[in-house]
Amino acid sequence: MAIKSVGVIGCGLMGSGIVQVAAQAGFRTVVVEASEALLDRGLAGLGRTLDGLIAKAKLDAAGKQQILDRITGATDFSAFKDCDLVIEAITENQTLKNETFAKLDTVCPPHALLASNTSSCNVTAMAAATKRPAQVLGLHFFNPVPLMKLVEVVQSILTDEATVASAYAWVQAVGKVPVRAKDSTAFIVNRLLVPYLLDAIRVYEGGLATLEDIDAAMKLGCGYPMGPFTLLDLVGLDTTMFVAEVMFEEFREARYAPPPLLKRMVMAGQLGRKAGKGFYSYPAK
Ligand code: CAA
Ligand code: NAD
Repeated sequence: MAIKSVGVIGCGLMGSGIVQVAAQAGFRTVVVEASEALLDRGLAGLGRTLDGLIAKAKLDAAGKQQILDRITGATDFSAFKDCDLVIEAITENQTLKNETFAKLDTVCPPHALLASNTSSCNVTAMAAATKRPAQVLGLHFFNPVPLMKLVEVVQSILTDEATVASAYAWVQAVGKVPVRAKDSTAFIVNRLLVPYLLDAIRVYEGGLATLEDIDAAMKLGCGYPMGPFTLLDLVGLDTTMFVAEVMFEEFREARYAPPPLLKRMVMAGQLGRKAGKGFYSYPAK
């Protein structure tokens, strides 16, 4: 099936990036948020990103308008009634995601594919919450979405090959590089990345070195584009904690357990860049 129109649920960090990439690639894109205020906030952020591209002469005002004209914002799932593919990018919570897929199933056209951008949740459970489990898969984008090339195309034991093939082709059509992964908790990248990020917090908590020195060491010593604490702040400490909890619950290995400092920072609302404060501070511009 050729995908022509796309839906995205959630216009946060990831959802707004997926909306940008889909609309920039020429797809009609519908985005649904939990409230008008959250929708306005998400779309305003997207507008600022496009303005940044204009400032760098990578886009002109007419190009920005064309992108915005392809995007429709809404607060009700009925807006997805004509979408060929809907990508869920809401909070990392299995129960919430299962409920969302059950609801999506009732409003989306029968042919539509339903995808989750989950970092770690169980795609099979989301599929089982619908009456079209063969058309449900994971499409895991990376942060920041417009800049990161990879998308993990996640196949559950219920997903059929035609679904994977259509989604794989769409990922290529938006200029990303797909890799295939099975629906096993945290897939490829997070299975390897998250224990590293959690270890960095444990090393810091243990007093081995400062945040800045740990970041500098991993950047300059390993050639990573960002140190672990800069990356944790970018990903969001809440999302990292939710992912760690899912991984620990699944594998029961200590290396996946969220470290005490991470849990306390989330309790304190220090969620990273999006909150203005995480391991580092981000004064409002
Ligand atoms: N859309 C299009 N282009 C954009 C853009 C946007 N929204 N934002 C920035 N750009 C452009 C900029 O204009 C810039 O262009 P020029 O080079 O022509 O000036 C270019 O992209 C690079 O921008 P920056 O200078 O800001 O970027 P950088 O070179 O400092 O790199 C980075 C930024 C790509 C984020 C890099 O630091 C990096 O790779 N960091 C690691 C990110 C990472 O590991 N992500 C994965 C997180 S884990 C995850 O996502 C999974 C999960 O489930 C938690
Ligand atoms: P976020 O908190 O920035 O955004 C989530 C958005 O979903 C919020 O704006 C919230 O209002 C909205 N939302 C929640 N429930 C909703 C509902 N029922 N209907 C409509 N909107 C709803 O989170 P994020 O970082 O964008 O993460 C979203 C998903 O993407 C999670 O599953 C996360 O694990 C995954 N992910 C995150 C990253 C990352 O680096 N942050 C990377 C890859 C994947």
